[in-house]
Amino acid sequence: MKIKKISKKLDKNEFGSKKAKKLKTLKERAENYNKMFPNYPSIIVDKDWLYGMWVIGNNYHSKKNYYGEYPPSYLKRVYSLFPDAKNVLHLFSGVVESGLWLNECRFDIKPELKPDVIGDAHKLSNYFSKELFDLILADPPYSNEDAMHYGTPMINRNKVVKECYYVLKAGGFLCWLDQVLPMYRKIEFRLVGIIGIVRSTNHRFRVLSIFQKIGDDE
Ligand SMILES: C[S@@+](CC[C@H](N)C(=O)[O-])C[C@H]1O[C@@H](n2cnc3c(N)ncnc32)[C@H](O)[C@@H]1O
Repeated sequence: MKIKKISKKLDKNEFGSKKAKKLKTLKERAENYNKMFPNYPSIIVDKDWLYGMWVIGNNYHSKKNYYGEYPPSYLKRVYSLFPDAKNVLHLFSGVVESGLWLNECRFDIKPELKPDVIGDAHKLSNYFSKELFDLILADPPYSNEDAMHYGTPMINRNKVVKECYYVLKAGGFLCWLDQVLPMYRKIEFRLVGIIGIVRSTNHRFRVLSIFQKIGDDE
């Protein structure tokens, strides 16, 4: 029942006074990032494809010490690319705190983390209505070894991406942070961006893959 309530809240809420200007093109999104982070290397858009490199460093200020926690400034950087998103799903939310977007839903399998919705990412369609979210930020375990840290089985990326397709609006974005490019169907998603993410020495290199859901009429 809690899940239904959340879906309704997300459906009804408007961006209200915080309404961000709609960014129509990838170029506008990149420009917004470059404006908000002028001291970092620019994000480039070339041939309808967005790419960049983020060197983010360690999160020495975090008191949570959660395995796999986002590096500092990661969410702010993603926000600068998608400030106009209305309904945002933090998939595999871990210890993420809401606050950047107006309507955010944190989704994780571990009840002790107190996400907004406790559940299994392979079954998103059981929890949320179709085409509810404008933006999904996914940060899954990257390997069996990672999954062991959370006490969960390693995810099936194909299944989760399929479920993301169901709950994402046409034209919405899926930002998938991982060590691999997940499999996707080209009739469902268009890969529109790749951002390499380097944390510091002896940390794994990651990649943020940005997909846009293709609409029925395309
Ligand atoms: C890499 S961590 C995410 C960390 C998060 N980005 C942060 O900043 O705290 C992966 C998360 O996925 C969750 N998880 C693992 N399997 C899951 C599943 N099948 N469904 C939902 N969440 C799952 C784990 O509990 C863990 O919190």
